Amino acid sequence: MCGIVGFAGKRPAAPFLLDGLSKLEYRGYDSAGIAVFCDKIRTVKSQGRLADLRAKVDTVSHLDGTLGIGHTRWATHGAPNDINSHPHTSMSGRVSIVHNGIIENYIPLKQELEAAGVVFRSETDTEVVAQLFDYYYEGDMIDTLIRVIGRIRGSYALGILCSDHPDQLVAVRKDSPLIIGLGEGENYIASDIPAVLEHTRDYYLLEDNEIAILKADSVELLDLNKNPVHHDVYTVTYDISAAEKGGYEYFMMKEIMEQPRAMRTCIGSRLTENGEVKLDKIRLTEEQIRNIGRIHIVACGSAWHAGIVAKYVIEEMTRIPVEVDLASEFRYRRPILSRNDLCITISQSGETADTLAALREARANDVHVLSIVNAVGSSIARESDDVLYTMAGPEIAVATTKGYSTQLAVIYLIALKFAAIRKTLKPARIQELTQALINLPDQIEALTKMDQRLREMATENADKNDVFIIGRGIDYGASMESSLKLKEISYVHSEAYAAGELKHGTISLIEDGSLVIAVATQDALYEKLVSNVKEIKARGAHVIAIVKEGCTDVEEVADEVIYIPSTDDLYTSSLTVIPMQLFAYYVAIARGCDVDKPRNLAKSVTVE
Ligand code: AGP
Repeated sequence: MCGIVGFAGKRPAAPFLLDGLSKLEYRGYDSAGIAVFCDKIRTVKSQGRLADLRAKVDTVSHLDGTLGIGHTRWATHGAPNDINSHPHTSMSGRVSIVHNGIIENYIPLKQELEAAGVVFRSETDTEVVAQLFDYYYEGDMIDTLIRVIGRIRGSYALGILCSDHPDQLVAVRKDSPLIIGLGEGENYIASDIPAVLEHTRDYYLLEDNEIAILKADSVELLDLNKNPVHHDVYTVTYDISAAEKGGYEYFMMKEIMEQPRAMRTCIGSRLTENGEVKLDKIRLTEEQIRNIGRIHIVACGSAWHAGIVAKYVIEEMTRIPVEVDLASEFRYRRPILSRNDLCITISQSGETADTLAALREARANDVHVLSIVNAVGSSIARESDDVLYTMAGPEIAVATTKGYSTQLAVIYLIALKFAAIRKTLKPARIQELTQALINLPDQIEALTKMDQRLREMATENADKNDVFIIGRGIDYGASMESSLKLKEISYVHSEAYAAGELKHGTISLIEDGSLVIAVATQDALYEKLVSNVKEIKARGAHVIAIVKEGCTDVEEVADEVIYIPSTDDLYTSSLTVIPMQLFAYYVAIARGCDVDKPRNLAKSVTVE
């Protein structure tokens, strides 16, 4: 996600802004910029790395103002380039804004402002906030900001400069983090503590819908009724390297814990006021959706696992046949494609070479390509006919967690939308599934609280060198992702297996002490899974069962049971994966592995 910094003091702001942004680089970004109030608001921004921005700043004379804001952008709306990078300035030039988050209703607001004669420069949602602020501004920044907040919907942390007020920096947040650093003769805003840690360990944690007014020698906190707000001062106790991970030991754990927020962002921005699914602006027409003959899902690794789950979900909801292919296979097997097929590629990085090649193969056969991608403006995103972003924010750990979870969320949204268009589900069923989707982030959050129990379970089983993860139906698909998590970060050999297939050979590997994780969340298949558990228990296996709340009878056959909250059977993969992410994480810790950078692996496989 983006990084914000701001400075109000008595020395030049630019050095603090640039250093502060460098401490937020871990958040991932594709462009950066600063704005400093000198004789007027001067803005310098650049696509690419901070070094590119520093080089540009060095060419600007008199950038010595003592009030400023800065930003590292992880693109969500509009490709990474100089124009789309922040800070964004209003048409008049008197307002400059940096933003972390997503303004969900930016399009109607932009249309309203354009109709009023406002000329936009960028494709971003953030520029709408800058223009709206200027449009409403009548002299008081706080009154103006309160009015702007009344119009915008979504998540935001905002840093705002106005040239009529050269001594104050204003900030506000909702759903995106923002801290207020407290210095000596200077004060700061930042998305995260590392940006200020060299200058102060004291800070306020701004709460949602609170406004901060920073001057060199004062910080004032107000609520939206302009009543003063009091907060205790927090003091940082850990060092800067820990701070970049939000206090977590590894990025992977930070990203596991970020999944509820990422899911809320991904789902929330695709629901109308009355809770109906609305996909982003895509070229695929409703007519084309009604005529889709077959869907080809193509991806690699965890993204391919999301595709396996997608097959069950999309076929069940839309009755469209779905084929799922490994991209490295699809690209070479001369796939049989027809013009009314749809190809869906899935990729967190948007740069996976095999998936990009498969996309090109589909397009060469005139097949419409819709991609599910996290990295905005990535190669796969740019070469697709349509792209739906997962909006998970940058994922630093090699092992994907929030990337995978939000891929599933987008798949559910696509299936619901297609089912509504093809009328393959009754409205009541669509409403039921939509509500279950809305409930998922809270349920995921509840599962992340099992952290300690999974740590114990993992430590007890960390010596195992062979682990089977079995399931039927959608649970089999979910098992594949759980198995990969274990393999890639703890180097334990693990195999996802269709539970009904064990007796056709592989069960010969089950012996005394074998660890088997049985995933049994599908009502229609539950009894069969319980029978499979009995089969493997009879051969001496140690069985951990993952079932829905209420299925307590499994305690008679399994050695340990993990319960997940009750959700629709089509969505259980989003829940069963959480304890398995934690299990894999703690097995890796117990085995002394580098969780964020596993051996032999890269975050994005941009070569064949
Ligand atoms: C997942 O934990 C792995 N890092 C890997 O399997 C990854 O999912 C795969 O390489 C695909 O990457 P992509 O989603 O960026 O295309």
